[in-house]
Parts: sequence; structure tokens; C-alpha cells
Amino acid sequence: MRIDGERMRQDFEALAMIGATPEGGVSRPSLGEAHLAARAWFLERAEAYGLETRIDAAGNHSAVLPVDGPTLLLGSHLDSVENGGRYDGALGVVAALHVLLALRETQLPLALEAIDFTDEEGTLVGLLGSEALTGALRAEALRAPRGGRTALLEGLERAGLHEERLVDARRAPATLAGYLELHIEQGPRLERAGAHIGIVTAIVGSRSLVFDFHGLSGHAGTTPMNVRRDAGLAAAAFVVATNALVVRDFPGCVATVGDMRFEPGGFNVIPGAARVSLEFRSTEPTQLDELEAALRREARAAAERHALGVEGVVVGRWKPAALHPGVREAIASAAASLDLTAIELPSGAGHDAQALAAVTPTGMIFVPSAGGISHQPSERTSWEDCLNGANTLLHATLELCRLYAVRGA
Ligand code: HGY
Ligand code: MN
Ligand code: MN
Repeated sequence: MRIDGERMRQDFEALAMIGATPEGGVSRPSLGEAHLAARAWFLERAEAYGLETRIDAAGNHSAVLPVDGPTLLLGSHLDSVENGGRYDGALGVVAALHVLLALRETQLPLALEAIDFTDEEGTLVGLLGSEALTGALRAEALRAPRGGRTALLEGLERAGLHEERLVDARRAPATLAGYLELHIEQGPRLERAGAHIGIVTAIVGSRSLVFDFHGLSGHAGTTPMNVRRDAGLAAAAFVVATNALVVRDFPGCVATVGDMRFEPGGFNVIPGAARVSLEFRSTEPTQLDELEAALRREARAAAERHALGVEGVVVGRWKPAALHPGVREAIASAAASLDLTAIELPSGAGHDAQALAAVTPTGMIFVPSAGGISHQPSERTSWEDCLNGANTLLHATLELCRLYAVRGA
């Protein structure tokens, strides 16, 4: 059995036009107009194919092949980073839909649900829909979300969602048979290894923090250099120190400063305030704690050197997740049955699968990213690789259904 490649490609290309950018990528930040249009498109296509559709209290959009039994979820996300690529998340949602189409005449022991999770990328919160579905969404994450509370409330309003009802999306784990996600690797490993398929072993944990440096605004022309309390200078010193610290003391971890703002931001005013937005990642929970403590020490040292104050606030935290050995085996046997080469590897990117892994057997299938590039318009995966991934998703789904039929729950 195979996915209808031409039919899937038409859908994938049509989706890529929603929020398309001139350089060939997409810009569909969570719950913005383009993202809402992509979600509506997904439901329209599913209904045009005659599938049942649902939207839950967290805005997760689904197409369903209902069966009286637990549900095997297949999916990913249709939101993107600003000026991102057309494959990140979208490939997994379109492939999941086409697995349902390929199997709708097949007698299965499990219901199949192709799901598009809300705000995977964390433009607003991060893993918002998948953590709501698994019961992991914390009120704290909504109070001080990394995209800001105002943006969150405006996004929920645009989408017709209600903050106090998001938690109603929770599914009892007993209703789930598992979760499978097809995704581009977003790194160079598969391409370098010449492998068709990546079988993901674990997903990295991450934390997002905002550090606010407080100094003294002043006249850029009349204030001597040795008496300034320049918040911008302290922030810049902290950014350089962050990079040096991770490279020197935390091999295998990554840290990124994605944004830095100076206040008031004029040419002729010494910045009185500076905000550094950063995130860091590790597969080890203890390392996340150690790295956060080390970064806080660096921020204090930079502030003290410039006679400033600083405080750091956590605006997002996601635990690392190991993926299910049985699901990894099902993916391996699916790839083998398709004569596709496969290697096992960890994911340096975060995914909805890391939320699902906490409550149900979960696995991820990677396909190669050209040049390892992602989160920007030139993100590319060959169509052959996309289809290999979709067929592996199809056969891993069949394998999990077979195992369920043989073993039961
Ligand atoms: O940030 C990530 O790792 C993912 O793309 N959301
Ligand atoms: Mn993604
Ligand atoms: Mn992403």
C-alpha cells in the first residue's frame, strides 16, 4: 500500500501558498490571519475528502477516521516561525491527512486522527495545543507566555478560543493508543549519513528566559564614558558571555539570543534599559538547571560591571522526552518494508511529540533537510523524501494497528 503521491503533493503545494513569502517560505505565526487560513484550509480539504472533522477547546484541528476504540493520533502543526519554511510542521499534518485517506477503506482496530496542534512554535506560548491535550498546560505558562500576554489574548480572541477553556481539551490517556509525527529533521545528520529516514530517540528540552538590564538613560554627547550606566553595553557583554559559557562549559547544549531591545532606542540617548530574550536546550534535565543558574550568574556579573540592576524571568520551559521503544521499532520495520535506509538520532528541535510522549506511546519520523537548513525560507526537503516519510508514516500506522490487534491495549 502507498500514499497517492500526486494527490498529496497538490495539497502540500496549495497549503504552501497560504502565508507564502516571496523567497518560497511561509510566515504563519500562531493564530495570526495566515495561520487561521491554513487551519481552515485543512478542515475544508478533510471535509472535501468526506472525513469527519473536529476542533477542540484548545483549537487543535482534526480529521478523523472514527472507530469504536482508542485513537492513534498522527499530526504536527500548521503554525510557523516568522519568515519560516514551508515544510516545518506542514509536511506532518498533510501526510497525516493522506494516511487517513489511504486507510479509509481498511478495517482498523484503532480510530485514526490527523491533528494540527495549536501554537507549536511558541510565537505565543509554545506546545500550547499539545500540552492542553495532554493535561500539561500550566496556568503560569499563560500568565507570562514568551510571546507576551497581550499577543496571547489577541490570538485567542481572533481564533474564538477562551483561555479558561483551553484545559478542557485534555484527553484521558486511556482514550489514546499513541502518537506518530512525521517532521523534517531541521538539521544535517540524515543528509550527511545518506539515510532516507530518521527514527527519533529523544527530543531536547528547552527553556526561554527574558533578562531585563536597568541602567541610567543619559545624553550621548555630554556624558563621560567612565560614568555611564549603559544598559545596552551590559546586555551586549552578557550576550557574548552566554555564547562563551555554553561553548566552554556545556558541550552538547545550545543557547541562542533571538532578540535584544534597547530603551529608549535613540541614537543620542544612552540606553537606560535593555531586554535580552534567549533560549537554551539540553537533552538532560539537570543540565537545564545548571545552565540556567550559570546564565543568571553571568547576567549579574555583567550588570555589576556596569553598576546596573538585572532580573531574569522564565517565560517557557519544556522537558526533554525519550520516545517509545515499541513505536521506534514500528517505524524501523515500516522503513525496512519500504526498502528505505534509517538511522536513529535525537532531535535538537522541540516538537509536539515531546508533550504527547508524557501520556502515550510516541514516535517521530524524520526526513532529510537540505543543508540542514530550517526556520527560514530556504528550508527544503525533496518531494521524494517527503513521500518516503509519508509512506513510512502509513506503514508505521499499520504496524501499530497490527500490534494493537494482536496485543490489545
Ligand atoms: O523551536 C523548535 O525547536 C521548534 O521548531 N518549535
Ligand atoms: Mn516543527
Ligand atoms: Mn519549528
